[in-house]
Amino acid sequence: MERTFLAIKPDGVQRGLVGEIIGRFEAKGFKLVGMKLITASRELAEQHYGVHKERPFFAGLVDFITSGPMVAMVWEGNGVVASARKMIGATNPLNSEPGTIRGDLAVNVGRNIIHGSDAVETARDEISLWFKEEELSAWTPCLTPWIV
Ligand code: TYD
Repeated sequence: MERTFLAIKPDGVQRGLVGEIIGRFEAKGFKLVGMKLITASRELAEQHYGVHKERPFFAGLVDFITSGPMVAMVWEGNGVVASARKMIGATNPLNSEPGTIRGDLAVNVGRNIIHGSDAVETARDEISLWFKEEELSAWTPCLTPWIV
């Protein structure tokens, strides 16, 4: 089953948007298989954003991403990589459609509250960068009603 790496960035945590953001992926029907609150080291942040290391915003991005705790997550589901990117919206929140996470909750490209893997291959790399195999739970949804 397809998996993606999502992370609520330090601004999303600071602004108290963790529940709101996680709720959207739960409501959509995707399955949470890994989650931890983690303040990234510079090494981890530089590796995660390695593709941007020559860009002018790289140093500021690494400063920001290491500035406080993030909620790192792995979500599973059919087409979850592309669907999560759609739910997240365009990189610059001023261009993100209303109804998307960035479109509804952010205004600044440097403070766009959430990361989502851009392809299945990238997701695989990002999941193994941020999580150990034993930190992920392959659970089966239980069909027994929990509230009687
Ligand atoms: P990118 O991978 O292009 O976007 P996305 O997060 O939508 O996959 O860029 C990574 C992050 O770098 C982006 O979320 C915010 C930051 N960034 C800037 O600060 N300035 C910029 O001009 C760009 C393109 C990105």
